[in-house]
Amino acid sequence: MTIRYLMCAPDFYDVDYVINPWMEGNIHRSNQTKAKEQWQALYDILKELASIDLVDPQPGLPDMVFTANAGLVLGNKVVVSRFFHRERQGEEPHFKAWFQSQGFETFELPQDLPFEGAGDALLDREGRWLWAGYGFRSELDSHPLIAQWLDIEVLSLHLVDSRFYHLDTCFCPLTGGYLLYYPEAFDTYSNRLIEMRVPSSKRIAISEPDAVNFACNAVNVGQTIILNKASDSLKQRLGAVGFTVIETPLTEFLKAGGAAKCLTLRITEPIAPAPQEVSHVESTVIQMQGHLLDTGLINRALDLVVDAGGSFQVLEFKLGVQKQSTSEAKIRVSAPDGEILKTILNQLIEIGAILPRETDRDAQLVAVEQAGVAPDDFYVTTIYPTEVRVKGEWIRATRQRMDACVVVDPAAKTAVCKLIRDLQVGDLVVVGVEGIRTAHRPEVREKSSKEFSFMGSGVSSERRVELVVEQIAWELRQIRDRGGKTVVTAGPVVVHTGGAPHLAYLIREGFVHALLGGNAIAVHDMEQAIMGTSLGVDLQRGVSVSGGHRHHLKVINLIRRYGGIKQAVEAGILTSGIMYECIKNNVPFSLAGSIRDDGPLPDTEMDLIKAQKHYSELIQGADLILMLSSMLHSIGVGNMTPAGVKLVCVDINPAVVTKLADRGSIESVGVVTDVGLFLSLLVQQLQKLGSAVFNV
Ligand code: ARG
Repeated sequence: MTIRYLMCAPDFYDVDYVINPWMEGNIHRSNQTKAKEQWQALYDILKELASIDLVDPQPGLPDMVFTANAGLVLGNKVVVSRFFHRERQGEEPHFKAWFQSQGFETFELPQDLPFEGAGDALLDREGRWLWAGYGFRSELDSHPLIAQWLDIEVLSLHLVDSRFYHLDTCFCPLTGGYLLYYPEAFDTYSNRLIEMRVPSSKRIAISEPDAVNFACNAVNVGQTIILNKASDSLKQRLGAVGFTVIETPLTEFLKAGGAAKCLTLRITEPIAPAPQEVSHVESTVIQMQGHLLDTGLINRALDLVVDAGGSFQVLEFKLGVQKQSTSEAKIRVSAPDGEILKTILNQLIEIGAILPRETDRDAQLVAVEQAGVAPDDFYVTTIYPTEVRVKGEWIRATRQRMDACVVVDPAAKTAVCKLIRDLQVGDLVVVGVEGIRTAHRPEVREKSSKEFSFMGSGVSSERRVELVVEQIAWELRQIRDRGGKTVVTAGPVVVHTGGAPHLAYLIREGFVHALLGGNAIAVHDMEQAIMGTSLGVDLQRGVSVSGGHRHHLKVINLIRRYGGIKQAVEAGILTSGIMYECIKNNVPFSLAGSIRDDGPLPDTEMDLIKAQKHYSELIQGADLILMLSSMLHSIGVGNMTPAGVKLVCVDINPAVVTKLADRGSIESVGVVTDVGLFLSLLVQQLQKLGSAVFNV
């Protein structure tokens, strides 16, 4: 059978508008005469290898030369294109008419489902399956329809580099199962899919310089490959596996973002012997409600879908008209396969999406079979309040924290967040994504954004520290006066930077209601209180004391002799500092041990599971947690703390601060500064507030 191609003469070709990055800056910059010569040269080369049909060019449709986008042909069927951009939609009737005149059976996608033909869909040259691209022009949801109509397996590939907006700009299946492609144009999942289907001996991955010369935009007939330009090394590689490369310059068309392959459409595509209709694409509809625009929630949701390799269609968007009224959206989410869809849904639920009422089901429960081991597929909690549907009723999980399982008691209609290690045989754990929703209470957000107006940008700069301090002082004062709870986590840097007396002041004056730290904060605080040094450095004089590096061991030894911090205070050995004030003022503390601890102090809990439990008990009911220069303890505490608790994280290292501000919780404040300086400013401010009366 002769191979046939469809082309369209460039009579009206030009760059008239910008719909891809190549067209930028090239409006009316293509040379008409040269374009015609280049097109003719391509025509002449191809004419030697195949027969060529022509479709009449149309005025006002400059991109019609790119016949690859006319539709997708298989056997005598064709799926005609639905262009994403208005600029090219005028081409649709002309291509459709041509296909019909040739006796093709035509299939048409719904109006709002873009698909740009063979530009985004390439048959494996053995006819085993169809590779289909999405991400810029064609919609993922078109793939199942194509699979059905053409009776073929469709493998969906996610394009992620806007320069390679059509699949045929970066991907070219070749005779004999070879594949010429540019891996960087695809996401990780797609690369994995490609690697699973094409053995490495057949994959010819090209580098960026060849990719931007459109080396993948090649016409392959038998052992011949026609393309704009290829590097010597690429030509050698192709030659080594039996291909002859013919270069023919197509620079004028590159200005519109197309080359050899784009200018042609193969219209003889034989059907493979064993056709099978498969698309791995799965989709579902979700609902979101809230301040979707103001809070950027809708953008986050849609970005998340795309970043995870999915695609979306907004089916409905009801905009809240007034500032305080919420918006509502219904979104169809699709993914190239069921696993990816599940991952996406999990993330969407985390930010508050729900499955629409019509499809509401009870949460799926699976019993624990082995103590301390969750069933596969268990739902992992976040800091946000979680509700699960049990026998048609939504119930709120208690002991909210992140990274836990939800255990349900259907009889009692209760749910609780439990760590994996605490699971008991028979516990019913929520799995999958159905019947779960999380709430991002908008009222929390609004209230706190007024009180913490500096929070806008999350992490503050040096200049704003004073303002932040003023507001935190105010907040601490209010919490204390109304009998609330402030918890402090602190690292030894508090002591090294001279902050110990200030933190001691906060404890003495009743601003701190629990202290969380490790062995080090206690050791260095007591070293300073007893020996006047912190890690051997005299903080008053700022110099190392000779033999000072052993001071902290001497202190540890001393405290061990007395049996603990409390005993040392009672014996009159320890008379000032952070730990002293904790004992004196009955402020509970928890010191969690670690692998690097010296000693440890008798008070340090070296069993981490016990330490975690103790921490989480001390956090219960907290209104505010002040995290002072301890990445380890701060992040640990962050994980245990539900949304709604204000977090103030102070660290000289912006990475730590960002990590906590990242909670997505608007209630977290990051202050990048020296913690000693911060504490001294805070104390100064509190003293300024003095005994001013607070009416709360
Ligand atoms: N300017 C055209 C567009 O952006 C170029 C199309 C190239 N065709 C292709 N199959 N890659 O739609």
